[in-house]
Amino acid sequence: MALNFAPERALLADMNHHIINLYAGIQSGAIYGSKVRDFLAIEGKRLAQAGAAYYYEVRDRFNEQGSSLDFLFLNRSCFNGVMRFNRHGKFNVPFGHKPERYAPSYITKIVNQVNWARKQMAGKKWEFRVASWQDVLAEVRADDFVYLDPPYIGRHTDYVNGWDDKEASSLARVTKALPSGFALSMWLENRHRKNEHINEHWSGLEVRVCSHFYHVGSSETLRNEIDEALIIKPGFATRDNGKQKTRQMAASKIQQSLPLFLPS
Ligand SMILES: C[S@@+](CC[C@H](N)C(=O)[O-])C[C@H]1O[C@@H](n2cnc3c(N)ncnc32)[C@H](O)[C@@H]1O
Repeated sequence: MALNFAPERALLADMNHHIINLYAGIQSGAIYGSKVRDFLAIEGKRLAQAGAAYYYEVRDRFNEQGSSLDFLFLNRSCFNGVMRFNRHGKFNVPFGHKPERYAPSYITKIVNQVNWARKQMAGKKWEFRVASWQDVLAEVRADDFVYLDPPYIGRHTDYVNGWDDKEASSLARVTKALPSGFALSMWLENRHRKNEHINEHWSGLEVRVCSHFYHVGSSETLRNEIDEALIIKPGFATRDNGKQKTRQMAASKIQQSLPLFLPS
């Protein structure tokens, strides 16, 4: 969201220090396209030669040293792109069974993403911070805009720390009391079931829906077409242009033609 919207000032926070380190590394210039290309070309060749054994060697190295380049390598060659850590904070996702993963075209795609991220944040006042949502939301002022991308409740997500119903409902309560505008991404429904958490905790707000295929997931049932909801504080959504399915959850919806991600 931040990279696409590219605001002049932003605080980007996550509890996962590996994610923050990677983006902060791109920002500082420690991680850049040609460095990523050289690294993935060498490591990709080793993976092609030794397969799973080399993947696990890199995983052990990453769990000892925490290098952002190893993080990238693992993220793109692990099982289904899953990001999961054990309770000691060690990355524990198995190999994705693709020794030939790092073909030149795939490396180029990753390099382009790194270069694009660098370009989007260049010259901007962005701070990347390892922090909990509780700490960050406590700092929010009325003229901020908050975008939240929390773990998807009920989809067996397991990031650096656990995420449960209690934490998800607490996030909803605190967010709805914020003095600023906000938007939050959450899965709404798939062909198997609806996300009851949304009805229970986010009703009365503006919801924009778009469907897409979910490629990342630990099991087949998690990799299917899903309706994603962008839940928006009333008064902060653009006018519905009919391109997305809109569901009015509020009895009295405030329709204003404000751009979606401008501060109030
Ligand atoms: C759906 S992912 C968002 C990923 C992120 N938007 C990105 O592009 O990399 C949810 C994120 O919530 C983070 N998270 C989990 N518990 C948290 C907490 N208590 N406070 C802050 N972030 C948390 C996870 O580490 C994970 O990266």
